[in-house]
Amino acid sequence: MTGARGKGREGKVWFVGAGPGDPDLITVKGLRIIQEADVVVYTDSLVSEALIARARPDAEVLKSAGMTLEEIVAVLVDRARAGKAVARVHTGDPSVFGAVLEQIVALEREGIPYEIVPGVSAVFAAAAAARVELTVPEVCQTVILTRVEGRTPMPKGERLRDLARHGGTLALFLSAALTKAVTAELRAAGWRDDTPVVVVYKATWPDERIIRTTLGELDAAVRRAGIRSHAMILAGQALDPALARSGAFRSRLYDPAFTHGFRKGKGEG
Ligand SMILES: C[S@@+](CC[C@H](N)C(=O)[O-])C[C@H]1O[C@@H](n2cnc3c(N)ncnc32)[C@H](O)[C@@H]1O
Repeated sequence: MTGARGKGREGKVWFVGAGPGDPDLITVKGLRIIQEADVVVYTDSLVSEALIARARPDAEVLKSAGMTLEEIVAVLVDRARAGKAVARVHTGDPSVFGAVLEQIVALEREGIPYEIVPGVSAVFAAAAAARVELTVPEVCQTVILTRVEGRTPMPKGERLRDLARHGGTLALFLSAALTKAVTAELRAAGWRDDTPVVVVYKATWPDERIIRTTLGELDAAVRRAGIRSHAMILAGQALDPALARSGAFRSRLYDPAFTHGFRKGKGEG
């Protein structure tokens, strides 16, 4: 495979980040792996069919949404053992809420070689759709990728209210159906009701929707829009629509007076 590091056609599994939805938002390497794979196993709930259509006509293509972990792993191991190149295609980036570790554990146990090819996570697709910078100089320099507690319990110290106390920008996965809980947690952390929030439903898909709201209005806005899943909630002062018009914030990187490795600041000797 040209997209692979290894030599020859040894059996191997590539975990490929498909990106957020738009089939053009995959890496060149990830696309090559899909195009050349003997077997493609993909998360059909959130990966575009147009991307999977790029697989070889004779490739074995399987949808994973209806499969159990055991069934998925059995396919990955069986096909790799048979010397096949297997593309296991995940939405966004595989390392973020991707459920890849449990597959990796099985491949390690079975001695199957594997590689992870990163992808564009929904957090960055949502930021692009909302046309914001998640880190604004002197406003927020931290982005926390997390979720509100749902059926999966949060580890100690990682409840949303604990994380939100740091300030910064929050990117909430898997939380669209839990906006009441999100609001309660952020209020408990001291966030004001006028804190800007942007909800991006199906970022980069043809039916993408962007809802600009505030913490106090979040639950009502999301319910009104009928959004229960496939949405990213971005919250914090970086989402303030007034920032784009203010001109008050600029990085030092491009400040004429600031010297760095690639440019001498004006007025500095
Ligand atoms: C199981 S997680 C997978 C995340 C993925 N690995 C990533 O990096 O984007 C699924 C959640 O990601 C978010 N998500 C995935 N694709 C999205 C998209 N196109 N637009 C908005 N949110 C998305 C939603 O919060 C959804 O509930």
